[in-house]
Amino acid sequence: MTPRKLHALSAMVITAFACLHIANHLVGLGGASAHIAFMETARLVYRARAVEWVLLACIGFQIVSGLVFVIRGWKQRHGGIAWLQAASGAYLSFFLAVHVGAVLSGRAALGLDTNFYFAAAGFHVAPFQFFFAPYYFLAVLALFTHLGCAAYWQSEGRPRLARALMVAVPCAAGAVISLLIVLSLAGALFRVDIPASYKATYDQSTP
Ligand code: HEM
Repeated sequence: MTPRKLHALSAMVITAFACLHIANHLVGLGGASAHIAFMETARLVYRARAVEWVLLACIGFQIVSGLVFVIRGWKQRHGGIAWLQAASGAYLSFFLAVHVGAVLSGRAALGLDTNFYFAAAGFHVAPFQFFFAPYYFLAVLALFTHLGCAAYWQSEGRPRLARALMVAVPCAAGAVISLLIVLSLAGALFRVDIPASYKATYDQSTP
């Protein structure tokens, strides 16, 4: 199997998790308790030991293989979609390395339940909201954009407009979904009271 095929296969595993994960954040638009209740059930699936190891292995592989593709293809890359795919992939590599590292160390080193409050805390301790708002907004946007670009390359031979929509629709949906999630974490949709134990982590500046 070629590295590109492995990258696509690993992307399928990550996308399956991401659907559940983003559904979790969308349920969170109804409040922190709804988010936490959904996550407790979803964890039964993705925190099952074998599932989590496969997921984390795919994340690790995706980060490294994605960066290799971005760098190796630098000089041969032509056209807006190719660059959009590379830019969204590069951002996802950065985001996933920082995000998964933060979640795992939040759990193992800080002993925190990495729930809604863990994700939201940075929005409620100045000046960290200026980091977290673009950091999370771009993550969900990059994921949708990257998948849209993949669909574009799979649809050669289709009319130009249909192919353009395969990128434009996911980008627009990603931007709206992302904005709603960021607003909920920032406390713009409902009141968010962050427990002191989560705010305290910002003494060590954990993203
Ligand atoms: C607004 C955007 C996001 C927020 C607020 C967020 C928040 C979180 C939180 C709170 C956890 C801990 C889950 C738990 O303890 O069960 C987590 C875990 C994780 N997130 Fe995200 N996430 C976001 C976007 C993403 C995206 C786009 C991906 C890419 C697929 C992603 C991948 C992961 C992975 C792989 C884990 C680790 C799962 C585990 O093994 O426990 N996240 N995220």
